[in-house]
Amino acid sequence: MSTISGTTASPTVSRGQISTLGGGYYSAEQSIISNYSNIYPTAFSDYAAEEINIWIDERRYQNSPNAPYPMPNDEEECNRLEQLHVLIRGVLKQNYIAPLDEPKQALDIGCGTGTWMREMALEFPDCEFTGIDISNILQGEKLPSNCTFKLGNALERLRFKDGSFDYVHQLQFGLGVPKRHWPRLCREYKRILRPDGWMEFAETDGRYFRTGPAGNAINNWLKNMYAARGIEPRRCCLLPEILADAGFPVVLRRIYSFPLGQWGKRLGQAALVDAQLTLQSLWPRIREVEPELTKEEFDRTVQLDWPVEVDEHKTYFNLRVYWCQKD
Ligand SMILES: C[S@@+](CC[C@H](N)C(=O)[O-])C[C@H]1O[C@@H](n2cnc3c(N)ncnc32)[C@H](O)[C@@H]1O
Repeated sequence: MSTISGTTASPTVSRGQISTLGGGYYSAEQSIISNYSNIYPTAFSDYAAEEINIWIDERRYQNSPNAPYPMPNDEEECNRLEQLHVLIRGVLKQNYIAPLDEPKQALDIGCGTGTWMREMALEFPDCEFTGIDISNILQGEKLPSNCTFKLGNALERLRFKDGSFDYVHQLQFGLGVPKRHWPRLCREYKRILRPDGWMEFAETDGRYFRTGPAGNAINNWLKNMYAARGIEPRRCCLLPEILADAGFPVVLRRIYSFPLGQWGKRLGQAALVDAQLTLQSLWPRIREVEPELTKEEFDRTVQLDWPVEVDEHKTYFNLRVYWCQKD
């Protein structure tokens, strides 16, 4: 079990500054998904038009013109998200970092399969959780009685009154946020939070560190593909400044580093499998911007060269957690 990065610093900082509190490591934990009692209606009719899907290479993707999120939304992707949730929760050792004090209303932006929301609903039975997603993955799913799903595009004005929530959470939603949307999104979060409410982000910056030739090629393909969709994953690194401008003067940060490959033991092996599945899901998007790249070269790089290289270079990626409180 090894820490890759992270140092301890002051727990509170002021505008423009950030606090780094921890590093990455792995501890295996099981998800606690059980005891779901009620079935909730999933779609609100005014959101229904948002659910536009297309099929590419036998994979299903949402295809809203107003949401550039590139990943699929089919069963295969749901399985990947659930596995990744277990990995992330294992590393964070919990589902949230903000110092929550008996929240009564919480919102999960880009809730996906709803696993985070379900676990939180069991941990906070007196809190009402609302999950919003552009894909109707939760249609017909049993949810705990204190969970509701709403189908909708979170990049548009959030259809909640000012001061509705004690806690707003987004986990791995950043890859769906065009870079020009971040400031407005953070102002929306401020609007819908109650005074003293907490905002929390957990985001990757969409690239791999300590790479060799295969990892460099992968980073470039990803960067070009995201850029073509108006997305800049590294924008999440600027969250302290963006949040300060939105009216959150104090932002806290923790960075968790995930090893890729056998050098990272069970976590590293699972993280590599997840990264390879992610890249395969993104192939239809990557080939749009890399017309010279053949599927054979892509597969050789991702499936054959990279797994060897990640151990030689000790490749890793970061999950960046930021949290801040409304005045
Ligand atoms: C990487 S998944 C993460 C899901 C979940 N938060 C988790 O950690 O397992 C990103 C989710 O954001 C959703 N999403 C992407 N763009 C969106 C948008 N504009 N509005 C609402 N949801 C969106 C996707 O459908 C997907 O379920």
